[in-house]
Amino acid sequence: MRNLNAVNPPFDKPTKAALKRVRLGRSDLEVSPVGTGTWQWGGAFYWGYGRSYTDVDLAAAYAASIENGINWFDTAEIYGRGKSEIILGRHVNGSTTNNPDSPKPLIATKFFPYPWRLHKSSLKRALKASLKRLNAESIDIYHIHFPFRPCSFEYWVNALADAEQDEHVQAVGVSNFSAEQTKRAHDLLDRKGIVLATNQVGYSLLNRKIESNGILETCRALDVSVISYGPLAEGLLTGKYRSDNPPPFMRKWRWARKRLKMLPPLISLMSDIASAHDASPSQVALNWLIRHGTLPIPGAKSAMQAKDNAVSMTWSLSNGELEALNAATERYLPTS
Ligand SMILES: NC(=O)c1ccc[n+]([C@@H]2O[C@H](COP(=O)([O-])OP(=O)(O)OC[C@H]3O[C@@H](n4cnc5c(N)ncnc54)[C@H](OP(=O)(O)O)[C@@H]3O)[C@@H](O)[C@H]2O)c1
Repeated sequence: MRNLNAVNPPFDKPTKAALKRVRLGRSDLEVSPVGTGTWQWGGAFYWGYGRSYTDVDLAAAYAASIENGINWFDTAEIYGRGKSEIILGRHVNGSTTNNPDSPKPLIATKFFPYPWRLHKSSLKRALKASLKRLNAESIDIYHIHFPFRPCSFEYWVNALADAEQDEHVQAVGVSNFSAEQTKRAHDLLDRKGIVLATNQVGYSLLNRKIESNGILETCRALDVSVISYGPLAEGLLTGKYRSDNPPPFMRKWRWARKRLKMLPPLISLMSDIASAHDASPSQVALNWLIRHGTLPIPGAKSAMQAKDNAVSMTWSLSNGELEALNAATERYLPTS
């Protein structure tokens, strides 16, 4: 069995096979099976940006993502109060990390329905501000971040439809929408001839709610791609954290110590599976999400993390391994 303290990602593995692409819902966009999440890019309060990692690390994470076959990045206007979009835009437009012959990566960003946003025009203004921060002409996937009130989610879906009809948005999605809200958003857009491409929701080996609350089933039936956020349970599924070595900063308080206590048997199984594939536990966690038909977007703070995550696209869990992981995490599959 692998030493859980020494989770070394394999760096010698060729990643050419990572050039596989998946269609995003019924949109025209094609993405790599794994994207890179960028909540961490500029996120000082929760993630420690500027303390434990810097812009130099993020530049390397961006370059490693691209070099290893990742062709899309997830951000949001609220991440780092706009900093994530600014940093990402700088890299996408920067000439040092981009081969001028290769296409620019796709960008997914999100509109946040703050309670003081009460009119459709605020979505237009937010979109314009995101475009400015990203230094982009258009956004590939524009999401409604949460179905928060006071305005109904239908109100924002209609505003999203208007945005899709001008030239600044290629595809639209929702995030944190329930099965019923997803269906209603899909139908509303469908009536206007617009495709609902994605629903971005929390999903991981430690959070399997979407398998039992109808979200996964509904998205499959409607051909809406499920983007899995928190795919590494904010680092817990990498195998590097334990009760006596909890994650730093805010995560220590958010993730109950009880959960860390329950983790070792699962990490042990993941490490055994990882060893058989010359992989890491993180790759097992991401592979499991890909095998469940979803698109994980692990957040990466360094080249090492970005590459490790991208390598998960180059191999596949056997059916037996998939079953073993399903069985070991049944407790995270609530029945209601
Ligand atoms: N739509 C929404 O409401 C929503 C909500 C949350 C997130 N998101 C999106 O989803 C993305 C991913 O979710 P998340 O960032 O919350 O959690 P996550 O991807 O589960 O965990 C990310 C953290 O795990 C650690 N890590 C990542 N790759 C690693 C590797 N290969 N080896 C070791 N450690 C690794 C890093 O933290 P340490 O090194 O500090 O441990 C990293 O910050 C976000 O960046 C964001 O784009 C969306």
